[in-house]
Amino acid sequence: MEYISVNPQNRAAVTAFISEHWLTTEMIIRGNVVDMTQVDGIVGMDGEEIAGLVTYTIEGDTCEITSLNSLKEGVGIGSSLIVRVLETARREHCRRVIVVTTNDNIGAIRFYQKRGFDMARFSHNALDISRRLKPEIPLIGEDGIPLRHEIEFEYSL
Ligand SMILES: CC(C)(COP(=O)(O)OP(=O)(O)OC[C@H]1O[C@@H](n2cnc3c(N)ncnc32)[C@H](O)[C@@H]1OP(=O)(O)O)[C@@H](O)C(=O)NCCC(=O)NCCS
Repeated sequence: MEYISVNPQNRAAVTAFISEHWLTTEMIIRGNVVDMTQVDGIVGMDGEEIAGLVTYTIEGDTCEITSLNSLKEGVGIGSSLIVRVLETARREHCRRVIVVTTNDNIGAIRFYQKRGFDMARFSHNALDISRRLKPEIPLIGEDGIPLRHEIEFEYSL
């Protein structure tokens, strides 16, 4: 697996990957629209294929993960992408890395906590605001769980 930054050469492939896996290039996080065609990122390449992607933004002393996907689960791709984001954030003099996930994403809630992220903030019914901007967000999320809230995890650097 080779890990490389998102760059002008792979940007189109990265955008196509995001569209395929998130069905949108506009994420709603904390009621704000994030243009996923512009975010920074790190790609895990398996030969010519994208096997994993983490995207992030950096503002001031905060690095925020805006998406994380692994197409070959359980072999360390997700963890490797997280390690690389933490390295990047440290290099950019950030003091923390945050990531928001939704209450239905039990896999992510497990994954981030086991990698040193602490549950730091909770936004009750945050998805009501997201749905005003994007009515197509479903009412039911993963595993049949009602999709309602945002949970923010934080890693202190
Ligand atoms: C969450 C997600 C990114 C994890 O990616 P992943 O590539 O499976 O992550 P890893 O392989 O590093 O870790 C998963 C498990 O495999 C284990 N693992 C890691 N390396 C391994 C290896 N070399 N061999 C076997 N197992 C391994 C890990 O221990 C981990 O188990 P644990 O959580 O009990 O510690 C992935 O499940 C995913 O894409 N989910 C859908 C999208 C999503 O919800 N994203 C997060 C919200 S932004």
